[in-house]
Order: sequence, then structure tokens, then C-alpha cells
Amino acid sequence: MHGFKKKHEEKNEGLKSMNGKTLLVTGGAGFIGSNFVLQSLALDYTVVNLDLLTYAGNLENLASAEGNPKHIFVEGSIADGDLLQRLLAEHKPAAIVHFAAESHVDRSITGPEAFVETNVVGTFHLLQAGLAYWQALSKDDATNFRFLHVSTDEVYGSLGPNDPAFHEETPYQPNSPYSASKAGSDHLVRAYFHTYGLPVLTTNCSNNYGPFQFPEKLIPLMIHNALNGKALPVYGDGQNVRDWLYVGDHCRAIHEVLLRGRVGETYNVGGLSEKKNLDVIHILCGILDELHPEGKPHDQLITYVKDRPGHDRRYAIDCRKLQGELGWAPQQSFESGIRKTVEWYLDNAEWVQHVTSGDYRKWVKANYAERSNA
Ligand code: NAD
Ligand code: DAU
Repeated sequence: MHGFKKKHEEKNEGLKSMNGKTLLVTGGAGFIGSNFVLQSLALDYTVVNLDLLTYAGNLENLASAEGNPKHIFVEGSIADGDLLQRLLAEHKPAAIVHFAAESHVDRSITGPEAFVETNVVGTFHLLQAGLAYWQALSKDDATNFRFLHVSTDEVYGSLGPNDPAFHEETPYQPNSPYSASKAGSDHLVRAYFHTYGLPVLTTNCSNNYGPFQFPEKLIPLMIHNALNGKALPVYGDGQNVRDWLYVGDHCRAIHEVLLRGRVGETYNVGGLSEKKNLDVIHILCGILDELHPEGKPHDQLITYVKDRPGHDRRYAIDCRKLQGELGWAPQQSFESGIRKTVEWYLDNAEWVQHVTSGDYRKWVKANYAERSNA
């Protein structure tokens, strides 16, 4: 495992935990999962981290946990029922926190099958194993057990400019193979509560950004390209709106829901920070002009490319349920979070270099060759 500068330690002030208990975290070598694992270790949990290490999983994200006996990494799939059964029997977790997924919308358009396999079928296997484990627990342990499913706001579809933000009762209208597969997994999780009584919780979160995000997603891709003097590819007219949340705040929300959320409920998580893509890119370029003046002005690299098919126009999240019931609020504004993020990518060039070699280049070539004729 390679070292990297760790300049992203978060404050966990006010955050409580099930002290000393064990969590089975799936997908804990990915972007949000690794941030969650590090936050959980800081909160004194023991973490059994099950990850298949697909292109998106990276043990370098967990380098700061190396040698920590409370972090048990297991390479394997959520679709492997025997492995799940063994891990649950051996480690007896107090909760399962489920991040593992295929997560990139553009990849779901060119290769939807993996999304159905991992997000729908994989979640089904995890639910089956979780249910069998929960049914065999003592009464007290069963009462306290939680299955927390991490999902997305994309299941709700797309908003018009003046529509109210998505709330927990907004009907599902997924538009991409990715969001349809996440919607499928949400429905399965819901069904395991209503049919079998499995104590589930679901969170539906908006767009995350921060340390360890793979540079296929908008913010790290733009930082990486700008630093390398490459085009900044804006899909369509750049006016699509996303609600941005700093990853550490998302992880804090998951901890709050895990500890105090009402069983069977869903909680929307959002950054209260709606931004047009083009505005995000200009903000990033402005910070880079200041912190990395070579290549300035970076916004001269902005290039309009062919739109994403079925591109959702706007997402916005109403997270008043989470705020009102559990007292959660984001600690980072977009301005503070995005600056921390750019600084992290500047400080961790080695991490970026490792993840952008090999298969990454093939993906970038295939995705953007398609779009060159905007
Ligand atoms: P990511 O793509 O960075 O990481 C996914 C992780 O899952 C990787 O480590 C990968 O190796 C692992 N994985 C994939 N298939 C697996 C399998 N079969 N078994 C075990 N591990 C497997 O994803 P992310 O952006 O960190 O998202 C994590 C979760 O949060 C996903 O469920 C996603 O839908 C959800 N989410 C993401 C965002 C966002 O903005 N990134 C927002 C809301 C919700
Ligand atoms: O809303 C939550 C979702 O946010 C998560 O569930 C997904 O896992 C996560 O990938 C993210 O989905 P998006 O499709 O919104 O994120 P992405 O970073 O791919 O794109 C953000 C916006 O930027 C979107 O409108 C498409 C646009 N875009 C993206 C890329 C990669 C560009 O204009 N150019 C690009 O090169």
C-alpha cells in the first residue's frame, strides 16, 4: 500500500457512536465508503470492510488505517452468499452499512449489466445473508441490529427549474440504468422490512465531493484535467443543476441515521447547495488560478461536448426530516468544502497518478471520443 499525505482529517465533534461495536461495511475501499471507514475507526468502531476492489476500489484510500487492528479488510463480493455467511458468523456485526455499488451514470449507459448485477442482485444477496444472520440473533441483539442501505437522490428522477426539492415521499422516477438499479435495490430493502421485519434504514443522498473521489466524476475530473492542461468537457449546455455535499458530512449523516434513525424509514441527505455544472467548473478554475497559477486562466480549457443521453436536468434535496429528527446539518459550505477538496488533490498528486494510469485512460478515451462532436 502506498502512502499519501493525509490532510483531510475531519472533526467528529458531537458525533456519537455505538462505542466499540463492529460494523460490516460493504464497498469501503471506494470513495464514500473509505471516508466512512476512516470516520468509523475514529469513532472507535471495529470495521469489517468487504470490497471487491473493482476499478473504483482502492486500498490506498485506507493507507492511514494500515496496521489498525480494528480495520479488517476482506476482498470479496456482496454477491458471495457463503462468504457473507462466514463473515457475519465470525465477526457478529451490530450493523451492516451497504455502500458497494457500480456508481457512475456514464458507465451505466455503456455497460448497464454490471449495474443490475451489483446494485440489484448483489444487494439481494446481502439482504438474504443479513436476514438469516438477524433471525438467528438473540432478542436484544436482534432489536439493536441495523441494515443501512446507502442510496441516491437520482431515484427520484429530474426536476424542472421551479419544482420543489425531492422529499422522502417523492415518487420514484429513475431515468438512467444506474438510478433504475439503485431504485431496484431501494425497493428490495423496503420489502425486507415490510415482509420479514429486517430493521432497515435507507439514506438517499445528493452529489458528494471530497478526498478519494475517482476522477471519472465531475469535480475530480475537472481538477485533474485542468492541472494537466486538458479540455474541461461540459456535457450539453452546462446548465444542469446538482446539489453538492462534502463527503465527510454525508458520512456524519449516515452515522446519525445508524444510531438514531427510525427503523424502516428513509432519510434524504443534501448539501443545501444547488449549483449549475458550469458554475462549479468556474469556481474550480478560480481556486486553481490562485493555488496553481501555471496554466491560468484555467477556464480557457472549457469545451462543450455532446450531452449525456437522458441527462437529468436538476436535482435538489429537501433534507428537513434528517435535520428535524436527528439534528444533522452540513458542516462544510460549498465554498469551504470545494477549497479543501482542491487542496487535497494538489497535495495528493501521487494518489491521482496511481488511479489515472492503466484502465482509467481507456475509459476516458472511450467516453470522450463519443462526445467530441458537440
Ligand atoms: P465508488 O464507485 O467510488 O465505490 C464503490 C465501491 O464498491 C468500490 O470500492 C468497489 O470496489 C465496490 N464494489 C463494487 N462492486 C462490489 C461487489 N460486488 N462487492 C463488494 N464491493 C463492490 O462509489 P461511491 O461514489 O463511493 O458511492 C458509494 C455508494 O453511495 C453507492 O451505493 C452510491 O450509489 C451511493 N451514492 C453515491 C453518491 C456520490 O455522489 N458518489 C451520492 C449518493 C449516493
Ligand atoms: O446525485 C447523486 C449521484 O451523483 C450519485 O448517486 C452518483 O453515484 C454520482 O456519480 C453522481 O451522479 P452524477 O451523474 O450527477 O455525477 P457526475 O459527476 O457524473 O456528473 C455531475 C454532472 O456533471 C452531471 O450533470 C453530468 C456533468 N458532467 C459530468 C462529467 C463526468 C459533465 O458536464 N462533464 C463530465 O465530464
